[in-house]
Amino acid sequence: MTSILEQLKDSVSQALVSAFGTELAATDPLVAPTNNPKFGDYQSNVALSLAKPLKQNPRAIAQSIIDNLEIEEMCEIPTIAGPGFINFMVKSDYIGSLLTKIQPDERLGVALTKNPQRVIVDYPSPNIAKEMHVGHLRPAIIGECLSRILEFVGHDVLRVSHIGDWGTPFGMLIAYLKEAYPEALTATENLNLGELATFYRQAKQRFDENADFKEASRQAVVELQAGDEETIKAWKIVCELSSRSYRKMYDLMGLSAVIERGESFYNPFLGDTLQELEQLGLVEESEGAMCVFLEGFSNRDGDPLPLIVKKSDGGYNYATTDLAAIRYRVREDQVQRVIYPVGSEQNNHFAQIFQVGQRAGWITNDHDFVHAEFGLVLGEDGKKLKTRSGEAIKLKDLLNEAIERVRTDLETRFVAEKRTETEEFINNSAEVIGISAVKYADLSQNRTSDYRFSYDKMLDLKGNTAPYLLYAYVRVQGISRKGQVNFEQLTDAKIVLEESAELSLAKHILQLEDVLKDVERDLLPNRICLYLFELSQKFNQFYDQCPILQADEPQRTSRLILADLTARTIKLGLSLLGIKVLERM
Ligand code: ARG
Repeated sequence: MTSILEQLKDSVSQALVSAFGTELAATDPLVAPTNNPKFGDYQSNVALSLAKPLKQNPRAIAQSIIDNLEIEEMCEIPTIAGPGFINFMVKSDYIGSLLTKIQPDERLGVALTKNPQRVIVDYPSPNIAKEMHVGHLRPAIIGECLSRILEFVGHDVLRVSHIGDWGTPFGMLIAYLKEAYPEALTATENLNLGELATFYRQAKQRFDENADFKEASRQAVVELQAGDEETIKAWKIVCELSSRSYRKMYDLMGLSAVIERGESFYNPFLGDTLQELEQLGLVEESEGAMCVFLEGFSNRDGDPLPLIVKKSDGGYNYATTDLAAIRYRVREDQVQRVIYPVGSEQNNHFAQIFQVGQRAGWITNDHDFVHAEFGLVLGEDGKKLKTRSGEAIKLKDLLNEAIERVRTDLETRFVAEKRTETEEFINNSAEVIGISAVKYADLSQNRTSDYRFSYDKMLDLKGNTAPYLLYAYVRVQGISRKGQVNFEQLTDAKIVLEESAELSLAKHILQLEDVLKDVERDLLPNRICLYLFELSQKFNQFYDQCPILQADEPQRTSRLILADLTARTIKLGLSLLGIKVLERM
């Protein structure tokens, strides 16, 4: 469906042409929602921006636009405010008719994009061989959410995990495997190395204690890159062990299946990638290393900064691998947009590889490569989140603590309310609420900022939190249970919007498409969170002010539909954030 905002934009654009000629066909109509109901629902500032070029009084321009507008069905007669703002008030009958239209639609009226693209979202892309820690939280949560949104609006999304599965840390694990579990190399079928965490700890201990072992680890890296058969086999076992342990976390976090293309995947293409850069004359030798000198980056002495693409020891690095990945994604995957949800500490890395990708002609104007950067997860003290002993907090512990806190709260509440619930119900609720709270706390912040991780805040029933939204959803399901109403049977009813709380809720429901459009463009999921939070607030006001089950017809059915549309919008919106709902709480 075309949203009211889009319809208004189109109408104003047409009016501009009718009033002032086709030269204005491409002029941005500057329509936006107002933030004060006093000025109606939408406002256009275009008359002000045209005053200079048209050499006319903006109020007169505004009047000509209004005279040429054809929006009687949708809006009251627009008014001119102040120096020349045009204010639009949408008719409540029109809003009602749109709600009736979206009611039977699973997509709630959100249209598919007219320009579907092939998009890669590069996530969660951990460096494996280590237990997952808090640093893995944001790429997983943000990547999942962006993929879901882009897919929902109709893009062809490939989720590609650029796993750090190559290089130094593996040496230690491979050497340890060979030393402590030599049988694993011959009888892989009953491989039992325990948990990656234990395995990693033991290997690390050995590495720190024993100089010979350290040397063996270094040797293992060399053998790995040289393709030594037994080393490759050991590497595969270690990757499998990591991947198994990671998959458990992905399941707990509800991540979708991803295509795993680790750094190792690009190994066969590194030579060609470098060669192509050389043929283009982009590579220079400097102190034994092969480099591309970057434009716009300089070192401390003001000299151009080199991006090393082949180290002096002959090895390739993270940048080379990412360049090979860019080339592969453009040529083989035929991708139009690539999104990297990766921490801001890699800002330079991405700016640099994108620059080289462009200079090599791999990234053209038809491609959009975006580093969807994010900030750090901080503790409540505002410092980087760590355990008391100073290590990164394990992801497993972080998530389990959220779940356990919810469980304790639920159990206390159920005892107080003398409610008996099954173990299964409690377990499932605790898991859904706990994980949702963590994800939502992350997504509701502007991703580019750091944020403070606080269980108390994210579990607060009153703030902009997952529990607050989940509760609004559950409230609606409670209405249906209490009144024995089957929402799906409420079809073809007229929607009457008389109370201001009803109208305000109804208008908000219809804005989902606009919000998704914004997020599709700027990749800021916090916009959806804010939208859903405001929706829940408006619903709660409506619920407090307008009787539903007790109301007479036609209000009763109309309000039930409004409640149902709210709940379905919350459910859909949350699912795009990667968050599940509960039917009762
Ligand atoms: N493995 C990297 C890290 O943990 C992130 C990789 C992001 N993706 C990429 N194509 N560089 O820092």
